[in-house]
Amino acid sequence: MKIENPWKQNPWFESVAVAQERARKRLPQPVYGALVAGSERGQSVTDNQAAFAELGLAPHVVGQLPERSQATTVFGHTIGSPVIISPTGVQAVHPDGEVAVARAAAARGTIMGLSNFASKSVEEVTATGATTFFQMYWTGERDTMVQRMTRAHEAGAQGLIATLDWSFSMGRDWGSPEIPEKVDLKAMVRLAPKVATKGRWLWQFGQQFRQTGKLPDLTAPNLAPPGPDGRLGEPPTFFGAYYEWMTTPPPSWEDVVWMRETWGQISGTPFVLKGVCRVDDALRAVDAGVAGISVSNHGGNNLDGTPAAIRMVRPVAEAVARASAGQVDVVMDGGVRRGSDVVKALALGAKAVLIGRAYLWGLAANGQAGVENVLDVLSGGVDSALRGLALSSTAELRPEHLLIPDGFDRALGVPEPAAAGR
Ligand SMILES: Cc1cc2nc3c(=O)[nH]c(=O)nc-3n(C[C@H](O)[C@H](O)[C@H](O)COP(=O)(O)O)c2cc1C
Repeated sequence: MKIENPWKQNPWFESVAVAQERARKRLPQPVYGALVAGSERGQSVTDNQAAFAELGLAPHVVGQLPERSQATTVFGHTIGSPVIISPTGVQAVHPDGEVAVARAAAARGTIMGLSNFASKSVEEVTATGATTFFQMYWTGERDTMVQRMTRAHEAGAQGLIATLDWSFSMGRDWGSPEIPEKVDLKAMVRLAPKVATKGRWLWQFGQQFRQTGKLPDLTAPNLAPPGPDGRLGEPPTFFGAYYEWMTTPPPSWEDVVWMRETWGQISGTPFVLKGVCRVDDALRAVDAGVAGISVSNHGGNNLDGTPAAIRMVRPVAEAVARASAGQVDVVMDGGVRRGSDVVKALALGAKAVLIGRAYLWGLAANGQAGVENVLDVLSGGVDSALRGLALSSTAELRPEHLLIPDGFDRALGVPEPAAAGR
């Protein structure tokens, strides 16, 4: 009698690494390439994960606690586990894209970060019931930004994430993936050899085409201009949106204050600055009135050579806690792949972490259920670590719970004590 392997077709995965492997097999090479992407020689993207592996844990053998809590209040919202969805653009890994991710975030009670370069509209995403924080780059005229903020607020966004770190680092040693301007017949013929062997991915988009008559869209619906009759105009293509962004003069700290105040007037909900690496920038952000800071090197996609985000967390978190009397939440993103990574980030002072690639792989592997699976893997890992460390709550995590090698932290831009006046 032939015994079937019961796990063979089981879409559940036990680790983020397994989800990544399924995503690699399932996705066309250019799409997978866009996910693993790091800029230039990939030093920062590599360090983001390697640095977590340098940190150790020292578990107890007896005295573990039967009940453990991961509930965390961050940016004014209490979430069941300290893992938030980081905004990522162009989610062509699955036809449901950001809507599937938002449903998973809602199902697991966490915050959904929605990119302004997303493939789904903010209205469709908030309709899932997920607590949505809309993310914006500094792109376009101020009036245009006000229109986009107003639209996000009217759609129900409950926070704004301003990502201002991007420095347009273009050269990648591994070669950037090709992204077609439009998914038309010409592009499909050109990309056919790369997608022809990816049956399941093609089938999913084929299903969408049969249901809606639409091909996957490489436009940015959240950057659509107002139309003549009060409705929205045509959304720009990804490249059109990128061009607007590239040609917008970089923001000053006065612009950050303006953006924070404008969002405050429109919505009154938290304003988070993402992409902070340096202590001096973090202190300027506190002065600018932000509610939160994400220590981040954009997943290693930005200026290569920036240290791993986890190495920069403690210096920034300590300085911000002192300067804001604990009023400004510091979170981090970059390289989080397991629950113990979350625990390490919290022990070094982060209130929560944001994840990027981990959920994109879950999405590619199994849609909404795959994203939920990733969130469950992480929260399961947090629980194991709390149990091993004999703690009852993530709130108790401190640096003493980790083995931290000498010279681990990277304190960038620490002001002279006299100059800082703090
Ligand atoms: C494919 C991809 C697209 C991204 N797009 C955005 C974006 O539109 N806005 C943004 O603020 N960050 C963006 N990021 C950065 C993520 O929000 C986050 O900082 C990063 O992915 C964290 O690192 P991790 O992927 O190792 O978790 C993107 C990252 C990836 C991998």
